[in-house]
Amino acid sequence: MKGGNYELITMDSNRGSFGSQLGVILASAGSAVGLGNIWRFPTEVGRGGGAAFILIYLGFILLLAMPVMLCEFIIGHSARSNAIGAFQKLSPGKPWVVAGIMGVLGGFLVLSFYSVVAGWTLHYTVQSALGQLQGLQTTDNGLQATDYGLSFNAFVSDPWQPILYLAVFLLLTHFVVARGIQHGIERYSKLMMPMLLAIIVFLMGFSLTMPGAAEGVRFLLQPDLNEVTPEVVLGAMGQAFFSLSVGLGCLVTYSSYFSKETRLVKSAMNVCIIDTMVAVLSGLIIFPTVFRVGIAPDAGPGLVFITLPNVFNLTFSEMPIVGYVFALLFYVLLLLAALTSSISMHEICTAFISEHFQAERRRAAVVVTFICLLLGACCSLSFGPWQEVTVFGRGFFDLFDFTVTKFLMPLGGLLMTLFVGWYLDRKLVERELTNGGTLSVRLMRPLLILIRWVAPIGILVIFLNEIIPLFM
Ligand code: PHE
Repeated sequence: MKGGNYELITMDSNRGSFGSQLGVILASAGSAVGLGNIWRFPTEVGRGGGAAFILIYLGFILLLAMPVMLCEFIIGHSARSNAIGAFQKLSPGKPWVVAGIMGVLGGFLVLSFYSVVAGWTLHYTVQSALGQLQGLQTTDNGLQATDYGLSFNAFVSDPWQPILYLAVFLLLTHFVVARGIQHGIERYSKLMMPMLLAIIVFLMGFSLTMPGAAEGVRFLLQPDLNEVTPEVVLGAMGQAFFSLSVGLGCLVTYSSYFSKETRLVKSAMNVCIIDTMVAVLSGLIIFPTVFRVGIAPDAGPGLVFITLPNVFNLTFSEMPIVGYVFALLFYVLLLLAALTSSISMHEICTAFISEHFQAERRRAAVVVTFICLLLGACCSLSFGPWQEVTVFGRGFFDLFDFTVTKFLMPLGGLLMTLFVGWYLDRKLVERELTNGGTLSVRLMRPLLILIRWVAPIGILVIFLNEIIPLFM
């Protein structure tokens, strides 16, 4: 039997909801735009041969991640429930609920390790505001990469400091989520996203006018196919899923607060466009500056915490005010991006706990914050005193990252495309895509082909390619 009784489901709604279409787009784009765009994307681009990686990435966004996003929207918008509740409503008693359970579990894990890096960001923001990032300048040529490397390593391996920043960051996230949908998530997304976009455009203009910027731009826009290895291709799918926040039911949760009139296809496209634009613009901020001081672009995760402080430092020694403003704005940007994403991770868990256990939102949020603080502290300690503590050969941070990005996101995405493409009633899906028949969606057929065939097969092939070697 096909699942999903549309009439019955849309009637029930005593929950929060977004107040405007702008709120819908900014909150969803806020979830998507995050450390994934500004920290992870440039790192992956650096390792994967610049523009060649970007091309593959764009293909995956269009063919795999965007269809999953649409499926999440269809599930959440029609069921009007949290990630687990939505499956229970649309397919009562059926095992599809596993997709929701994996999502909520993934929500806890992702928020825990993400907040650690967000905590580092908060520390760097404070440091740059106090002008202390420049304090490390030691040599005549100002290019002592090791100094920043050392201070970064000393900071992240400290047992207490990073946990303190992690806690402050989680409290900020908590504060927004506890206030609810319209007064919390929507209100703060409307405040933070325009700020974030303005800072990005400003910094990009700035970075492109620096001497030597052309080389960085060339790296970003000229494909070097020699660098494309199978790992680069696999990494591109992981990056596409992570960056669009798909596979964990985060967008199932958000779309359950969309109004009935919200256009799902248009919203999904807008979110994909904004997210991709921010990723590429971040590359245009980072690579010209990195090339300017002649540092290899494949510096890895230390790129924004080790390489960039070097660049800021150099700028600072030539033009102090410019260097100061550049550094500060960059870390504020990173912090805003992290916060709008962590809010959405928190909401996956808070929505589930408050609806499932019929707990007040504020109480549910406290539980989530507390659990993530404990798990996050474990992740943070895995850079310092707990370096030797491993589970399945990985420290906590790595383990959580690996579980979410390599297992839960692709598997969740796969299940959701199968659920919407093959299990849900076709009429319900069409109604969701056309807003109850009021919109003609010319894209309907191609979208359905993507959802039913291209995305599940593509995700499965890539997932198996990534997983099988682990067990050989
Ligand atoms: N998309 C976010 C980023 O790019 C990360 C994220 C993953 C957010 C999963 C929510 C859920 O940083």
